[in-house]
Amino acid sequence: MNREDFHILDSGIIYFDNGATTLKPYILSDTISDYYNNYSANAHRGDYDISLKVDAMYEGVRENIKKFINANSSNQIIFTNNSTDSLNKIIFGYFKNHLKKGDHVLLTKSEHASNVLPWFELKDEMGIQIDYIELDKNHKVTMENVINAITPNTKVISIAHVTNVVGDIRPVKEIIDLAHEKNIKVIIDGAQSVPHIKTDVSYLDPDFLVFSAHKMCGPTGVGVIYIKEDLMNEIKPIIVGGGMNASFEFDGTREYNELPHLLEAGTPNIAGVIGFGSVINYLNTIGISNIQNYEKELKEYAIEKLSKVPNIIIYNNSSESGIITFNIKDIFPQDVAVYLNKYNICVRAGNHCAKILKDELGIKNTCRISLYFYNTKEEIDYLVKVLSNPNIKNEII
Ligand code: ALA
Repeated sequence: MNREDFHILDSGIIYFDNGATTLKPYILSDTISDYYNNYSANAHRGDYDISLKVDAMYEGVRENIKKFINANSSNQIIFTNNSTDSLNKIIFGYFKNHLKKGDHVLLTKSEHASNVLPWFELKDEMGIQIDYIELDKNHKVTMENVINAITPNTKVISIAHVTNVVGDIRPVKEIIDLAHEKNIKVIIDGAQSVPHIKTDVSYLDPDFLVFSAHKMCGPTGVGVIYIKEDLMNEIKPIIVGGGMNASFEFDGTREYNELPHLLEAGTPNIAGVIGFGSVINYLNTIGISNIQNYEKELKEYAIEKLSKVPNIIIYNNSSESGIITFNIKDIFPQDVAVYLNKYNICVRAGNHCAKILKDELGIKNTCRISLYFYNTKEEIDYLVKVLSNPNIKNEII
């Protein structure tokens, strides 16, 4: 779908690393160039035309994102640098002030580093307890295992909606409903889900949702925090400075702005945010449900074809997203990635920043293909052909 919108595809590249970052359509660079060439003023600081235009554009994107995820108010949308930054701002800006020693945080072993390491830091700092919801034999989260993992001390469940290696889609609605019955807060890492599946925060009702622009055709350096309305007065900034204060005096008295500006200290990534707005419009034109349905069809096709590749081990046959994680028996995954690169095919190899998932998969490193709407069945056929090369081992050596 829409391949003509991606200049980079003219080079013949086959790009299967969309979980790392997606390709960018023309509209993104056109919008960013327009900002830098024609109205490159700062935001929220000027009283002249081009600065007022920046304010309108920047705040317009907030409104766009509010609609994209169906939040109640654009003040619930905070711009950050990426999902990692978003999670750190939530964990150190909210949970550090709301948890106490012995409180219990639930994660899974397939979480990305950005949803594990801040919790480890908080554990060292204040003695919270971290536990992992057990995964089933397909490395998925079941409600039964969520129920079993919850203790009277559980205060937070922090999980990805879609994981970046296994690619399973978690039953987040059920998890959030159960958690709220027990007064447990839920953070949803939407980095791998918001770009691919309809995400409606009014329906799902998470306490926090985070995602990144660059995994959905947008620029690098822009992320989002969605915060539930009830919590808006309870989060503190972990970065302070310009743009987030209303006043301060020599003696230290100070007044800070409300959300969203409270968490957006310093000149933001204006070009990136405005560019992100253009790709949100672009994705809306394609339709997120069309993207979801197309990826599902492509994924099923890929699994069927890849299963016939000699010596392949697929680790997540039954997962629902466009992520496929595999190895070729007796070949180091990085070597497979380098081999595929010779054929102009881009995949990711390694542990994919999910370094404790090895305990579940029983293997440290894998190759991963992650699909997006511009991938095609022909590209998958070519991948299968290249991986089925009887001389693959000789070509690698
Ligand atoms: N989190 C990104 C990935 O899964 C970088 O590749």
